[in-house]
Amino acid sequence: MNILLLGSGGREHAIAWKLSQSNKIGKLFIAPGNAGTSEVGVNVQLEISNFSSVKEFVLENKVEMVIVGPEQPLVDGIADYFLSNDDIKEIPVIGPVKAGALLEGSKDFAKEFMSKYNIPTAKYMSFTKATLDEGKKFLETLSTPYVLKADGLAAGKGVLILTDLNEAKNSLAEMLGGQFGEASEKVVIEEFLDGIELSVFVITDGKSYKILPEAKDYKRIGEGDTGLNTGGMGAVSPVPFADKSFMDKVERKVIQPTIDGIRKEGINYKGFVFLGLIKVDDEPYVIEYNVRMGDPETEVVIPRIKSDLLDLFIHVGNETLDKVHFEIDDRSCTTVMLVSGGYPEEYEKGMLITGFDKIEKSFLFHAGTKESNDGTETNGGRVIAISSYGVDHKEALKMCYENALKVDFKGKYYRKDIGFDLN
Ligand code: AMP
Ligand code: GLY
Repeated sequence: MNILLLGSGGREHAIAWKLSQSNKIGKLFIAPGNAGTSEVGVNVQLEISNFSSVKEFVLENKVEMVIVGPEQPLVDGIADYFLSNDDIKEIPVIGPVKAGALLEGSKDFAKEFMSKYNIPTAKYMSFTKATLDEGKKFLETLSTPYVLKADGLAAGKGVLILTDLNEAKNSLAEMLGGQFGEASEKVVIEEFLDGIELSVFVITDGKSYKILPEAKDYKRIGEGDTGLNTGGMGAVSPVPFADKSFMDKVERKVIQPTIDGIRKEGINYKGFVFLGLIKVDDEPYVIEYNVRMGDPETEVVIPRIKSDLLDLFIHVGNETLDKVHFEIDDRSCTTVMLVSGGYPEEYEKGMLITGFDKIEKSFLFHAGTKESNDGTETNGGRVIAISSYGVDHKEALKMCYENALKVDFKGKYYRKDIGFDLN
């Protein structure tokens, strides 16, 4: 079966790596991909936001399934585009239609959905420029810290957590005044939840679902979870504090009502649901929904899936996910992200990467890399994820860190304390 996978990060390399192991795979195309994906498939230079060129490629290359890595094409309606074009409507797209992608694309929509289906989340209210004064008054009724969220996609920067009331009021005014463009025309203000975060992943065909391994990611650039937010500096799966009784609660109180809600809303949802959760006093609350896999969580979740990933996707496409035998590896898997010096602020690209041949017992998922005449070069802030298995996360991390010393490029930085808060 010929597959087109959209995206270019570590997430896509991990998905491509796993798909390439399937005995059902024909040609695997990745658009645009990176130096890592070209080792397991064929990179194609496609403008993925241009759906008609995606369609042309799909028809010319007899692609039989499209898998969408990042959220933007989903929010822009790529699944709807396929369904509404007669010559490609039978080709399954793994990723929800626009109405489903709103769970990630609009915080206000997600909060309304959660309140309608009784899914535990922080108390909230939404405001626009016209209701700025009400927003300020609402802030006065809350206690510090204050959580302000731009409604739309803001490249992971749209959430502000402020300790000072006046600062929160000023930030609200700035956001509604266009700080994040259209994304902050509406702002959700919500109660601060104090707990420990984890990510839970579900794949659904719109009717039934499978729960994938959960993970914890480390978003801040600095050790001890300090400094600026990044795309993610490392991840661990399984998450030791997500024991069976907690995960049963997650399934009952969050996953089932979410999938039921999607079905009741009549949303054609074939793809991943990523639940950003926070555990407060042993109870799960939803911080956010995403409609794709997480990155770098994918780099620890995918290696723990024993079953054939392409087979899983085929069942999603056929709405027969309930018939799939789904197996998870008991081992722990961890990843450590090597990033460019300066990231998440300014950084240089084009640094030669060395040491690939020295890697033992870990596997590398490329994020921001590209091939050049001289070899593989850095091509982004997050460069390479080093993933390893172990009997527990400590053993797996030890292996990641041994190999993190071996892969090298000018300016290399990584956090040396991934998993520091876990027992
Ligand atoms: P989001 O983009 O919604 O995931 O928010 C980014 C980060 O802000 C989350 O990963 C949390 O660490 C934090 N956050 C968001 N909402 C809350 C909340 N209600 N209480 C505490 N922390 C939050
Ligand atoms: N690692 C968090 C995300 O992918 O959104």
